[in-house]
Amino acid sequence: MPALETPRLKLEPITVEHATEAWIHLDDARMWTFFPKLRPKSFDELRALYARWENPHHAKSELRENWACRDRRSGHLVGTMQATTFPSRAISYIAYGIFVAYQRRGYAREAVAAVLHHLDQNLHSRRIFAEMDVKNEASFRLVESLGFKRVKKRHAVDTERGDSDEYVYELVV
Ligand SMILES: CC(C)(COP(=O)(O)OP(=O)(O)OC[C@H]1O[C@@H](n2cnc3c(N)ncnc32)[C@H](O)[C@@H]1OP(=O)(O)O)[C@@H](O)C(=O)NCCC(=O)NCCS
Repeated sequence: MPALETPRLKLEPITVEHATEAWIHLDDARMWTFFPKLRPKSFDELRALYARWENPHHAKSELRENWACRDRRSGHLVGTMQATTFPSRAISYIAYGIFVAYQRRGYAREAVAAVLHHLDQNLHSRRIFAEMDVKNEASFRLVESLGFKRVKKRHAVDTERGDSDEYVYELVV
């Protein structure tokens, strides 16, 4: 998995060492409003998650990539990015989080743009999807600002996001 660069950020492949820096920001309910089921309950749970991400057992059909986003000037971690790619179908799904202290500074747009470029150039994904709760305006406005189109609204039962209405957005590369 490559590290990615943007004007302000370095996207580092996540390792277990990132858990210490990330935990103070992820132990915050505001990061999990729309998917409380995914919230790690303890630092050890986050470490275990990052350990699995560091050494993923990829199914042949699926590639899961995770990055920690570091502001190169301050050295601070500002968020995380994820991409799940199905190479045989040339499609990817993205997920993203910018820690509360760093939101509304354009970091998500900058980091997601770098992930999209990587998915296009290196993994040759032709369609990229993002899914979010219909109430998660920050998330859908973000992908709209990057050219994604809303293609579906559905009622999702018992998903990672709980029982909710969600949008599916698509970018055709
Ligand atoms: C969604 C999220 C990643 C956005 O991160 P961010 O770094 O604050 O976003 P940016 O500053 O790059 O904003 C890019 C655009 O997204 C939209 N946007 C971002 N936050 C918004 C908000 N709170 N309300 C409305 N639009 C918003 C705006 O169009 C913004 O452009 P503008 O600032 O020029 O108006 C962040 O709010 C977050 O991590 N939330 C918690 C976790 C989460 O819900 N992740 C998404 C899972 S589906």
